Amino acid sequence: MLTVFNHPLITHKLALMRDKNTPTKDFAQQLNEIGSLMAFEISRDLPTKPKDVETPIGICHTAELAHDVVLVPILRAGLGMTEGIRSIIPTAKVGFVGLYRNEETLQPVEYFFKCPDMTEATVMILDPMLATGGSADAAIEMVKKRGAKNIKLVCLVGVPEGVKRIEESHPDVDIYLAALDEKLNEKGYIVPGLGDAGDRIFGTK
Ligand code: PRP
Ligand code: URA
Repeated sequence: MLTVFNHPLITHKLALMRDKNTPTKDFAQQLNEIGSLMAFEISRDLPTKPKDVETPIGICHTAELAHDVVLVPILRAGLGMTEGIRSIIPTAKVGFVGLYRNEETLQPVEYFFKCPDMTEATVMILDPMLATGGSADAAIEMVKKRGAKNIKLVCLVGVPEGVKRIEESHPDVDIYLAALDEKLNEKGYIVPGLGDAGDRIFGTK
């Protein structure tokens, strides 16, 4: 299932990120803030289990999260959303998938994997950009191989092509976007998009 968040605050912050004149520090800050806002909405349907808490006045029959949340940023750009989400889910565990796109073939190349136990967890794969969908597809494969079953793909900007690829190869994975853009250009960049997310977060261009 695809969810595109139409929220004024998310759109406002994303507009700042899209602006080519926005400096690295502000770009990174807006990305983390959008990550928090999206995570708040996405976590709405997380399962809970009953819990009794002793307040200063009496017993409160309340609830807590039933399962671990594991955040899996795709390096590098997914790192830019991780702290924002941890700020509202501080108990979340964090794993890492290292992938980069070969600039000519646009195929993902794997270079790192380190994740905690994901078998019972809600796993959120994080990457601002869903372009061809190759990187997200590969990351989902990698976590599924290690036992992840409940997977959410959390991106900022996507295009129909990338969404279609994930819907076809992983129909069980929910996809969340802050915006669905028009298309990819001949170099595989999202149009209008926001440019190269990793470079803009880390100031490498
Ligand atoms: C970017 C982006 C995604 C990928 C999306 O990463 O962060 O991981 O491209 O493209 P796709 O949907 O066509 O696979 P990049 O390869 O530039 O690596 P980086 O984050 O290290 O800069
Ligand atoms: N990766 C990016 O960082 N930006 C795009 O537009 C496409 C892939």
